[in-house]
Parts: sequence; C-alpha cells; structure tokens
Amino acid sequence: MALVIINPKGVAPWIDALKQVDPNLDIRTFPNDSNREEIHFALTWRHPYGIFKDYPNLKCISSMGAGVDHLLRDPELPDDAFITRLVDPYLAKDMAEFVLALIMNHLRDLNAFKIKQTQVIWKPADYLRIKDVKVGIMGMGAIGRQVASELQKTGFNVSGWARTEKRGIGLTVYSGLTEFPTFLNNTDVLVCVLPLTEATKGILNKDCFKQLPKNAFIINVGRGEQVVEADLLQYISEGHLSGASLDVFTEEPLPIDSPLWKHPRINITPHIASITNPESVAAQIVENYYRCKEGKVLLNLVSREKGY
Ligand code: GLV
Repeated sequence: MALVIINPKGVAPWIDALKQVDPNLDIRTFPNDSNREEIHFALTWRHPYGIFKDYPNLKCISSMGAGVDHLLRDPELPDDAFITRLVDPYLAKDMAEFVLALIMNHLRDLNAFKIKQTQVIWKPADYLRIKDVKVGIMGMGAIGRQVASELQKTGFNVSGWARTEKRGIGLTVYSGLTEFPTFLNNTDVLVCVLPLTEATKGILNKDCFKQLPKNAFIINVGRGEQVVEADLLQYISEGHLSGASLDVFTEEPLPIDSPLWKHPRINITPHIASITNPESVAAQIVENYYRCKEGKVLLNLVSREKGY
C-alpha cells in the first residue's frame, strides 16, 4: 500500500513532514508515480480532474486543506473512495488572526491613512470601537468557532450563523434560512468562512446585503463563488455597504481585468488567510493512512451529500 501526493504547488514540505512522522511510509508523487495499482491513499490539492481513474485501488482521497470543493467538483471522482479533509488547529488560529487584522484595518480605516500619507496630508479621523461593533460569522465549523472565540476574547460582540442548529458554543448562533434575516440585521461586520456547497453558492447576494445595517462591511475568507460580485459592487457603490475584504475568488488568480482590483473600498488578498501547515497535520494524515489500511473509521470524513 502506498500514498501519492498530488500538489501542483510542490510536494517537498509534505514529504518531509510525513517522513518525520513515519519514515517507512511509501510515498509517491504525481505525475511521476508508476504502479498506480499500489496506491490506496491520495493527498491532494487541486488535482487535474479525471486522474483518479488511473488509480484502480484508491480507498481514500484526502484534501490538503480544510475545503474539499476542489475535489468534489471532479466529475470523475471515484464513487467508492472515502473523502477526508484536514482539521488543523493552526489553520483555524491563522484564520482567526487574519480576520481580526482585517476587522481592525476596517475599524481604523488604515487604507485611507495610507492614501493620505502618499498625498502628505495630516488629517485625523474618528474611528469605530471594538465594543460597539457586532461581528456575524457565517459558518460554525472548527474554523468559524475559533474565529468567533478569538474575536470574543478581543472584546467584539460576536454571533454566528449555521445551516443547522448549534448549541453550547458560547455565543448566539442563528440557524437556517428562517433566522438568517435576524442574524444579518444584527451584524456590522459579516465574516464568511462557509464551505462551498450548492446551498452556499451565491449566498452573499443582494438579498443578504440589503438586510445588513447601513455601512456594514463584508469579509469573505470562505470561497469566491459565495459572493455575487455584481451585487457586492452595486451595494458598495450605492453606499449601503462600506466596503469589503476578499481573500478568495471564483477564478484564482483574480483576472487582471476584474473590477475588484482597483476598487477603493475593496481589499484584495491572494487566498492567504490561512494556509495548511504540513507539520501540524502530518500525524493526522498518517493516522488516516493506517486507518484506511486497516479498514477503520477515518478521521474528518466528508459527506459528499453535504459537501463538507
Ligand atoms: C484553504 O482554502 C483550505 O481549504 O484549506
């Protein structure tokens, strides 16, 4: 039994991290792997679609990240392989820190001061205080909960929204479409960390924006397809939304002719909110590799039906 790593961004750090945990692991790397019938476990990030049909004995396909939309979109994904994802405490912590940085940047309007600096203008301005800002987090999985807890520690008034009812998280969590409007009415900064599914595609649209209070700010660190760009641009230009920070896009890299690039009220980052650290997840991958070998229940199993 062997494991293949498929990652167009490079495989070396993954091999090192896995070998640290288990020096005997039989690791192959795509596309230079031969004898593909020996491979039972694939660790992948944005693999070329259709390749799995060359691996007749594949039992488990693990995403290299928290998201699995890149996997589930493959029309030739083998029906009988288990899909797993990584749950990395550092990934959640990095995400929480990044979201905090974006919110602080927004509250203090640091972009505006940078522009004034280039114009040699000294002009103090008022700012929003943490205690007065209500942050609403869409997505209450491992990442959303960590973001919520870090923001609460900083003093923000935080609530959450999830598809299904969640209790005992230590904050108000609204659930389902019926409670979505109340959640939005009570949100000044909307943070999306949702996984991409049929139900979340386009969820950040006009109907959502119009239920937010005037001057609300949008942060999307989920997936690009969740935002209807035309609606976002319209609601910012009409002054209902004060702006947005976007880290993820329908097409990545963001095309050079996208109107988002040069918008003064939109901050663009190149999908860097949180990046899986091979060292902190290697043990989890090796554990699943052996569970797969022994036919045991896998960690962080994904439901194809739910999409996460
Ligand atoms: C990053 O976007 C991930 O899914 O881990």
